[in-house]
Amino acid sequence: MNPKTSILSRRLAWVVLALACAGGIAQARFRQPSEEYQARRAKLRAAVDGPVVIFGYTGHEDASEVALFFQEPHFYYLTGHDEPGAALLLIPDPSALKLGGQASEDSSSALSLGGRAWENGPREILYLQPRDPKQEVWEGPKIGPDDPGLAQKTGFANVEPFANLRGELAKLAKTYPNFYTLLPPKQEEGYPHLTNWSAWLRDAVPQASVKDIAPALDAMRQVKSAGELALMQKAIDASIDAQLDAMKTMRPGLFEYQIAARMKQIHEWAGCAREAYAPIVGTGFNSTVLHYSALDDEIKDGDVVVIDVGGEYGGYAADITRTLPANGKFTPRQREIYDIVLGAQNAALAAVKPGAVLFGPKGSLQQIVTDYINTHGKDKEGHSLGKYYPHGVSHHLGLDVHDPGDRTRPLEPGMVVTVEPGIYIPEENLGVRIEDDVLVTKDGYQILTARLPRTADEIEKFMAEGSTQPEKPQTEKP
Ligand code: GLY
Ligand code: MN
Ligand code: MN
Repeated sequence: MNPKTSILSRRLAWVVLALACAGGIAQARFRQPSEEYQARRAKLRAAVDGPVVIFGYTGHEDASEVALFFQEPHFYYLTGHDEPGAALLLIPDPSALKLGGQASEDSSSALSLGGRAWENGPREILYLQPRDPKQEVWEGPKIGPDDPGLAQKTGFANVEPFANLRGELAKLAKTYPNFYTLLPPKQEEGYPHLTNWSAWLRDAVPQASVKDIAPALDAMRQVKSAGELALMQKAIDASIDAQLDAMKTMRPGLFEYQIAARMKQIHEWAGCAREAYAPIVGTGFNSTVLHYSALDDEIKDGDVVVIDVGGEYGGYAADITRTLPANGKFTPRQREIYDIVLGAQNAALAAVKPGAVLFGPKGSLQQIVTDYINTHGKDKEGHSLGKYYPHGVSHHLGLDVHDPGDRTRPLEPGMVVTVEPGIYIPEENLGVRIEDDVLVTKDGYQILTARLPRTADEIEKFMAEGSTQPEKPQTEKP
């Protein structure tokens, strides 16, 4: 680009930015085009025989001083709306209307709600909290239901105050016997969001049968769009850069938290809004603790260090683990166990293709890894190593690090899963996990984390060549 074009294009960029801000179309940092969310909503509406109601988080789920708002993932997946206290109402297309599982014989009367021709009424409504000027002094402007330009900002033709939702549901309940929402699992962990709001819905439509929409939504979320994959690759690239930094920085005398601190900074510098999960940097014995999160200990000469750390970009998670020798060289025993885990991972990877299953009998990735570990290597008592592999080989990855959905569903192109075997031998202070993120393609798979050294040789070489030998490590906690 020549300098003149560059000045012109910069001016043009400023004009576009100024217009965007003036017109209120500045997009959230990570939002995908509205059409993407609209298409997801249309697909869901086509799959149901009654209204769907999904509630976003309220912002009161976590009362701690450091809590930052993040959106309920199913709600975000369908709306791209990232502010608290909102709800989504979807109404099936008239053509798809079935009452109690049977097509309505008299759809005109079935669809007439309080004199309103529902065929022509809105099929999707976003409900928002009214704006609160006093709160906005502290938290900045929010999107309110009476704002101008809402269709452009939200991608919804119909946006209403949250207070109207209950009345709308009561009207719909005169027509529809079935309503859908996210029902809580038997024991909802953490804040009881689904328990509370499904009870609220049942109270609003007492005569209706309230059913679970989660299976349908989970299944949709398992297959990623090109836009989702682009965001996920950003999370993965930042997380690879952080893992590379850990390889360069690693040495005895550092503390686990120092490795994690550098990695988090690299994520955020690259645009990650937060960590995808609590970072795991476990040295020595801690390498055998699957979800070790204390990060208190000093890294000792001769240890291995399990580093399972991933950032979240645009809501999408990366989930990557590497196991490093603290001093840059695996001992023969560490390398033996490392190579077994790597062999198990390669065997599992070779099976990834459409139609394969993560869990299940014979031929599943879990079975492949279990068989491999059971038939390679021994512990100090001469027993096989299967008992040192206590977790699953894989999970789907997406808006959640452990993305929801049926893990026995045959794989399809567009799914992203981890492949993460491990062996953890506490009596030897030796844990090894290798975790990569893998896209299922038409013919097989693509390792999205392929840029990161994976074999023992590659890791030792990178650590030797890349070592930056930073400032003298701090050997006492401040
Ligand atoms: N980082 C959590 C997991 O690997 O599943
Ligand atoms: Mn994982
Ligand atoms: Mn992980």
